[in-house]
Amino acid sequence: MGDLYKNFLRPLLFLLEPETAHDLTINLAKVFQKFDFLTGRAGSVFSGPDAPVEVMGLKFRNPVGLAAGFDKNCEIYRFLSKLGFGFLELGTVTLHAQAGNPRPRLFRIQESSAIINRMGLNNAGAAEAAKNLERIGKTEIPLGISIGKNTDCSLEKAPENYLETLKILYPHGDYFVLNISCPNVPDAGRLCRPGYVLSVLEPVMEFMESMGRKPLFIKIPCDLTGRETAGMANIAVEYGTGLAASNTANSREGVPEKWKTEKGGLSGAPLEEISNKIISGIRAVSKTVPVIGTGGVTSPESALKKLKLGANLVEVYTGMIYNGPFFVKEILKYIALEGK
Ligand SMILES: Cc1cc2nc3c(=O)[nH]c(=O)nc-3n(C[C@H](O)[C@H](O)[C@H](O)COP(=O)(O)O)c2cc1C
Repeated sequence: MGDLYKNFLRPLLFLLEPETAHDLTINLAKVFQKFDFLTGRAGSVFSGPDAPVEVMGLKFRNPVGLAAGFDKNCEIYRFLSKLGFGFLELGTVTLHAQAGNPRPRLFRIQESSAIINRMGLNNAGAAEAAKNLERIGKTEIPLGISIGKNTDCSLEKAPENYLETLKILYPHGDYFVLNISCPNVPDAGRLCRPGYVLSVLEPVMEFMESMGRKPLFIKIPCDLTGRETAGMANIAVEYGTGLAASNTANSREGVPEKWKTEKGGLSGAPLEEISNKIISGIRAVSKTVPVIGTGGVTSPESALKKLKLGANLVEVYTGMIYNGPFFVKEILKYIALEGK
């Protein structure tokens, strides 16, 4: 069935400018998810074999989720929940709406099964996301919500900015992700320094304790050194959070020459080894810290590899763009066969 997408739908979608194709998908999904008889049918067509896992007290029917950045405004997740995923990471949502970087800011690199994006955390803000979450309601799979800092907010004011965002969205997420790793914002390099991470993390933890704790992950960059990775793993152990490893790369390894100067974060196949190294770095420090492996899952084999390296869950984004809506099912079938 995946061939149907690759041979017919993908060539049509790829005729469109990438962000236009994304916007079209969002608009079609919004319509589609209004009709229960359609979403009910989709559920059975796209689902793969169950592969249940429990992570941080949450039960997942399978370990394959959608990575942050696809449903930034939490508006099409009922549709997405029918594509076989075990969970969805929505957002990244910031406190106030922001436009992100000027277009064009999203580029397909088909030769490398990759994408470069410099979206810059464009989103409609926390109040709008909460309104959508309230209207659409819960789904049968866990929903994670990624929260980030507004670009015009200084690092000093960041703790308050994250906390206010979390407060607005807290009733709606089953787990949360602190995004401290977007490479497409000013100060990107400083966001993942331990001092800054702790300044954001501590008030967030305090709030969550007071409200009834939900699982929290920190999404880390993939351009970390071994020492920096170990530092993040130690923070996660100390504070009882998980880690999502990782965000997009500054590296241009594995992409044709003409793309090497295009600004933005690289995702897809060239990211696989880079982000796998981060997973191994985390596991060298802790065998138990919960890890969501993200980056370069563009084939069923690459998903299983991340699980074998010690990720508890994996996420896909770019792989979904290149492989289509049957991708999760393909991964789950492969895991059922080869994952013993
Ligand atoms: C267009 C685009 C937008 C993204 N936006 C976000 C975002 O808002 N927040 C975030 O944490 N990661 C974001 N990401 C990063 C993905 O969540 C993921 O970490 C990265 O793409 C690596 O996974 P992949 O190789 O499967 O794409 C975005 C990625 C892409 C391609």
